[in-house]
Amino acid sequence: MKWYNIINFDELEKEEIHRFHINDKPYCLIRLVDEILCFMDMCPHQKAEMSYGKLQSLVTTNGDNELVVSECKEVITCPWHGWEFKVRTGESVFCSKKKYKLIHLPTKVEKNNIFVKAN
Ligand code: FES
Repeated sequence: MKWYNIINFDELEKEEIHRFHINDKPYCLIRLVDEILCFMDMCPHQKAEMSYGKLQSLVTTNGDNELVVSECKEVITCPWHGWEFKVRTGESVFCSKKKYKLIHLPTKVEKNNIFVKAN
C-alpha cells in the first residue's frame, strides 16, 4: 500500500462525491464538515457504482423517541436498489452484517493536498 495524492483540499466540494481511479480501480472521496472519507466505488450488494448515489442526512431517534437529523450528509444511497450506508463507517443503515459494508481506505491531508492509501 502507498499514499496517492488525489486532489487539492480546496477543490473537493463539501458533501459531494468525487470519483477517481488508482490503478484502474474506482473510488469515491467525500469531504464532510470534519472528515475526509474514501471508499471503493462499489456497492456491497451487487456492485453498483456508489458515485452515482445520493448523499443525505442520517435520521435516527433519540431517547425520547424524537427524530434526529444529522447536520451533514453522512448517508449514501445506492443508485440501483436504494440501500443506504453510513459513509463514516461504511455500515449499512439497516443491516449490521459485515459483508454489506463499504470498503474504506485511509486518508490524510498534508500541505492542503488529500492523500489516499491504496494498492
Ligand atoms: S447494488 Fe446497491 S443496493 Fe443493490
